[in-house]
Amino acid sequence: MEIIKNALGQSHHLIRSVVKPGDIVIDATAGNGHDTAFLAELVGSGGKVYAFDIQEQALQQTRERLAGLKLLDRVELIKDGHQNMDRYVAGKVKAVMFNLGYLPGGDHRIGTRGDTTVAAILKSMDLVEVNGIISIVVYYGGDSGFEEKDRVMDLIRKIDHRQFTVMKTEFVNQVNCPPIFVCIEKLY
Ligand SMILES: C[S@@+](CC[C@H](N)C(=O)[O-])C[C@H]1O[C@@H](n2cnc3c(N)ncnc32)[C@H](O)[C@@H]1O
Repeated sequence: MEIIKNALGQSHHLIRSVVKPGDIVIDATAGNGHDTAFLAELVGSGGKVYAFDIQEQALQQTRERLAGLKLLDRVELIKDGHQNMDRYVAGKVKAVMFNLGYLPGGDHRIGTRGDTTVAAILKSMDLVEVNGIISIVVYYGGDSGFEEKDRVMDLIRKIDHRQFTVMKTEFVNQVNCPPIFVCIEKLY
């Protein structure tokens, strides 16, 4: 097993260190439900996960996965874009997870997009509590293209350093556009 984890592994490592039983969190891209299940375990039966996806196929996969793991009771599945998350989430959240790109096994043309992703990150920055984090795994190249990655990188460079710490982990010697991990922590 490698010591240096890939972007998704890095995001899980950090989320695990922050999210505790009873917390309220958001999975901004439910997809096949792996991250929703991960979050649902962490928050426990007293916590809550809001999970967004625009595709019914993704929400159905997530629903089935959660039901199989007996974790559905603490998850609200929402068929809407994450750019509208503020319409559903009341109060502050401990963490927001983004796993960008398209649904594995699904239609590669229905992926996350620069404009809606940027809008959702900005809303997450409002919703997240102090010392809460926003984790973003950015896929690019291939069917995902570069537009969304460029928009996200442009946004994070401009975030006010007095209110947020922003970290980017990039793998510099790999081939085929390895995903990038971005983490944003709210400081006050
Ligand atoms: C890479 S997948 C997520 C994988 C997922 N986290 C998992 O554990 O399986 C990205 C998902 O984002 C969804 N998506 C695309 N645009 C979206 C939007 N505006 N709001 C919410 N989800 C969106 C896609 O439908 C797709 O299922």
